[in-house]
Amino acid sequence: MKYEAVIFDLDGVICHTDKYHFQAWKALADKLGIYFDETINNRLRGVSRMESLEIILERYDGTLTQEEKVRCAEEKNDLYKELLKQMSPADLSPEVKETLDTLRARDVKLAIGSSSKNARFILGQIGLGDYFDAISDGNNITNSKPDPEVFVKAAEFLGIPAGKCLVVEDAEAGIQAAAAGGMDSAAMGDAVRYHIATYDMDSFTDLQNIVA
Ligand code: BG6
Ligand code: MG
Repeated sequence: MKYEAVIFDLDGVICHTDKYHFQAWKALADKLGIYFDETINNRLRGVSRMESLEIILERYDGTLTQEEKVRCAEEKNDLYKELLKQMSPADLSPEVKETLDTLRARDVKLAIGSSSKNARFILGQIGLGDYFDAISDGNNITNSKPDPEVFVKAAEFLGIPAGKCLVVEDAEAGIQAAAAGGMDSAAMGDAVRYHIATYDMDSFTDLQNIVA
């Protein structure tokens, strides 16, 4: 088999927390009088919380101290976490669950490679708390995507060489990160329109053919 492991991004791939990120950032942007829309939101995919804030602040007229920025990021995260509480196993789509189970039955190792510090909480909410063989997330990295660190760590946790790993991503920065780490990638959602991944997917179930 070409791939021994699949490393999944979480937000926008395994589940759709991206709408909650948008809502929480929008609330903060509105409060600060900053214009914010879906196009700007797409630039935040895969990017760390503090780097996301910096992108939003590109349109801010004033200046904020580092302390104020940290408070803004905390405020966004508090609202985001409130929104995440409504997630449940019903937010795990049948195609995602069926595909994960199919890959597992073929003895493919399955990991998470997410920039989020909330990854474990989200996985618990959707009923996948104990599912993955390894979780690499925002708590074990110092550089976020497009740096490959989160995926390189995931491969290390699994004990599988990079060349045998496939990364599944919805973010342009995530596809770039996979390539920088020497890994093939499968794009879905927003990432498909850049045509920079090894595979562009129409549906999550395409993975069952890619990892054959
Ligand atoms: C990524 C999201 O998964 O996690 C980004 O795509 C987000 O939009 C990043 O900024 C960090 O998330 P968190 O939960 O640590 O604020
Ligand atoms: Mg994502």
